[in-house]
Amino acid sequence: MPEQSPSYRRGVDDPETTAEHIRAAGSAAFGSEVHGDTVHGLDGADRWATGGYGFETLAIHAGQDPDPATGAVVVPIYQTSTYAQSDVGQHRGYEYSRSGNPTRTALETCLAALEAGRTGLAFASGLAAEDCLLRTVTGPGGHVLVPDDAYGGTYRLFARVLARWGVEHTPVPLGDLDRVRAAMRPQTSLIWCETPTNPLLAVADIAALAAIAHGADARLAVDNTFASPYLQQPLAWGADVVVHSTTKYLGGHSDVVGGALVTSDGGLAQELAYHQNAMGAVPGPFDCWLVLRGAKTLGVRMDRHCANAARVVELLTGHPAVAAVFYPGLPDHPGHAVASRQMSGYGGMVSFRLAGGEAAALDVCRRTRLFTLGESLGGVESLIEHPARMTHASVAGSQLEVAADLVRLSVGIETVDDLLADLDEALAGG
Ligand SMILES: Cc1ncc(COP(=O)(O)O)c(C=O)c1O
Repeated sequence: MPEQSPSYRRGVDDPETTAEHIRAAGSAAFGSEVHGDTVHGLDGADRWATGGYGFETLAIHAGQDPDPATGAVVVPIYQTSTYAQSDVGQHRGYEYSRSGNPTRTALETCLAALEAGRTGLAFASGLAAEDCLLRTVTGPGGHVLVPDDAYGGTYRLFARVLARWGVEHTPVPLGDLDRVRAAMRPQTSLIWCETPTNPLLAVADIAALAAIAHGADARLAVDNTFASPYLQQPLAWGADVVVHSTTKYLGGHSDVVGGALVTSDGGLAQELAYHQNAMGAVPGPFDCWLVLRGAKTLGVRMDRHCANAARVVELLTGHPAVAAVFYPGLPDHPGHAVASRQMSGYGGMVSFRLAGGEAAALDVCRRTRLFTLGESLGGVESLIEHPARMTHASVAGSQLEVAADLVRLSVGIETVDDLLADLDEALAGG
């Protein structure tokens, strides 16, 4: 597999983004309202970023020192809404759990470390994280470039919610850099990138998009949900902020809904933290704990997701019932070269079109036994779905409409021969 970018630790030595800088910027811009006088997770993230640790070490240890009160090896679930103060305004860094909670701090510190970023912020869902980011960096009269293939809910947020507040968006194929340049407007403040995309696994060149965004005084956000930070670290390639639905690979067990933002930009971190608290879509402590527990095994899970997906792709590409397979690991995938450069593996998501059209696609979805028919992705168990009628129903009639003969697989980490037998049987017509 290709090596990580040499600029993996970008920003670590940048004095503009130290914890002190953020606090100073915060008190100037927002007073002490952000999280009291503390931006939780920040000092911890700095400490782990400079430690030179490997990914799996960070996943298991970053933000997760033994509990100072009891020595508990696992970060406790601090199921509390408020914190005793010794005198008016005298507290130990936590005042109220919307603003900050120690279990959430642990998760936020760990997420920042995994993305090689400075600040991590956790949210109640991926869409809550997206909403916070978008309302922080755009506003009425603003304009955003969005991919012409993306998670349907993300598109719905642009088309049905933000549009009503005067934020315009233009869908563009982000693999075509000339079209990206041409679509930029003076009021474009953000390029929204998803790579690989949901559901067509299109790949965008993060470094090239960052150059276009920064040349136009705009920012680049990358939804890294499909790759996970184990396979791709967008900040290292120049992105300003990374977005996650932690519901997916980071949580990894289909038992929690959550979202995250990670950035190394001190000013942006401060503004996002302010909005996180001011808008309030934060995750509860137990949800933070579940994502944190899942993240510990992200590396070993992703290795197996990638290996199993490669075998599934092998089966699908040679199958007469299959008309096309979408997977960035395929040498003839248009984004294969870029994926090989900016990812360290091709992931566990695979989409394919059925030669027999929509009816055949629906039939396959009904026939698998181990691949459970359901929305979502990134869990240990394999899932199958029909994007046009399920996850992407909200983009029907738009530029992002999905073909009716498309099936999407989230390849889990079960015994691969069982998965292959299940798919083979379903494709054969049951
Ligand atoms: C790529 C991607 N981004 C964001 C989201 C939204 O995340 P959530 O469902 O946690 O709100 C999803 C959900 O499927 C997704 O697939």
